[in-house]
Amino acid sequence: ADLEPDWRALRSAATEAAASAYAPYSHFPVGAAGLTANGIVISGCNVENASFGLTLCAECGLASALRRAGETTLVAVSVTDPAGRLLTPCGRCRQVLLEHGGPDMLIDADPEPQRLGALLPGAFD
Ligand code: THU
Repeated sequence: ADLEPDWRALRSAATEAAASAYAPYSHFPVGAAGLTANGIVISGCNVENASFGLTLCAECGLASALRRAGETTLVAVSVTDPAGRLLTPCGRCRQVLLEHGGPDMLIDADPEPQRLGALLPGAFD
């Protein structure tokens, strides 16, 4: 868990997950991949529906898959589009992610990863 995350692998897992997205309304597929404290890679994709506001972000799918895998803690997360371009988690998803790794979680970003705590200062917890 103390090892530097393999960001290339995490980004490619996110890119692969984005290919499974269901985004017929926004035409904006998203994939999220997370490395757990046990070294396992988990992923999710966005799933939209006709009521746009009820869209499930890729990070929500990731949180569900994390729990379903019997894992509890995310240490690093990448979010990308299907071309592998990095995206920043939306505000709601920062809160969702916080629950599963806290402010020290690393979020993939250019030029370097950022702590979730820096992206969501003063978080409600
Ligand atoms: N989306 C995510 O899946 N994660 C984010 O962090 C940002 C936005 C999705 C929601 C919607 O299906 C599409 O991207 C366009 O907003």
